[in-house]
Amino acid sequence: PLIFYTSHDGNIQEVHAEVGGSVMQAAVDNGIDGILGECGGSCSCATCHCYVDPAWVAKTGEADSTENEMLECVLEPQETSRLSCQIIITDDMDGMVITMPKAQY
Ligand code: FES
Repeated sequence: PLIFYTSHDGNIQEVHAEVGGSVMQAAVDNGIDGILGECGGSCSCATCHCYVDPAWVAKTGEADSTENEMLECVLEPQETSRLSCQIIITDDMDGMVITMPKAQY
């Protein structure tokens, strides 16, 4: 599926992401600035914070309790904040829009 990564200042980059990978991994593998993923996806660094476009929240599902605890440490959390390493890409995420925060820490 095609994922659109939008920077905090509106610059959009498209990535052809692999089903079964994470939104974080697809960003890191494709050199997207704004998602760091320092812990490699184990939900322990919160440097993969992103905002899911509200239209796509139904597809990504909700954060679990571990993720929600980590989300308490991010800068500028919003209603649709997620850790992108915890969003596993599925076929029906084609066209999904993800926005990155201004900074990860
Ligand atoms: Fe570390 Fe997501 S990559 S919490």
